[in-house]
Amino acid sequence: MPFRRKDGVLLELGLQAAIINWDNSPATIVMAQDITERKHTEQQIASYVKQLEGSMKATLQAVSNMVDLRDPYTAGHERRVGLIAYAIARELGWEPERCNAMEMTGLVHDIGKIAIPAEILSKPTRLTPLEMAMVRGHAQAGYDILKDVPFAAPVAEAIRQHHERMDGSGYPQGLKGDEILPEARVLAVADVIESMAAHRPYRAALGLNTALAEIEQGKGRLYDTEVAEAALRLVREKGYQLPQ
Ligand SMILES: [Fe+2]
Ligand SMILES: [Fe+2]
Repeated sequence: MPFRRKDGVLLELGLQAAIINWDNSPATIVMAQDITERKHTEQQIASYVKQLEGSMKATLQAVSNMVDLRDPYTAGHERRVGLIAYAIARELGWEPERCNAMEMTGLVHDIGKIAIPAEILSKPTRLTPLEMAMVRGHAQAGYDILKDVPFAAPVAEAIRQHHERMDGSGYPQGLKGDEILPEARVLAVADVIESMAAHRPYRAALGLNTALAEIEQGKGRLYDTEVAEAALRLVREKGYQLPQ
């Protein structure tokens, strides 16, 4: 509690009370401790952490902008996937920190695209098998780029796994079910929804309904059942609208 000293200086006091027995009747002992210094330090640390989180987010946004510059046709895709992944994580009841990490991960999930020649990224016609293999390399490349950044969340690993599918039909490692990180399963659903609902150079936007139908159809086979259901519930029952 706040406390004003005789000389007018404001202090923070920490009080601790214990019930004791005093001459056969109950009594309370209260200990007051000056915690002004500690409070001050705590506030300072909290403000440093906030500042650090801000710089981290801004740095990831910068990296994301870089990807957008190289592949203007899908500009904003990563940012929107991050927002959708955040919303799904919240719907799943994840801790706030973990939800925020999903937004960050989404923001850079296709960073590995910088390893793909720009002509391939914007090619309006069907890709050759070799070009397709190069495009698929972006998941591993994203992991290689981010693996040494000490995030609290498994950002690099989730990025490597964001094209894995529950039945093992995905890439790059062909992981199955529980072998795939929950974070990557959320990212996968958010990625598919955004990709299908948004416009692409080689086709018009398919629309949100088509995207949801795909998620519903692949539920349990390609996409984690719980994650897919959370996404469907968000849009169909809770009026969630895709970010612009
Ligand atoms: Fe991707
Ligand atoms: Fe993506």
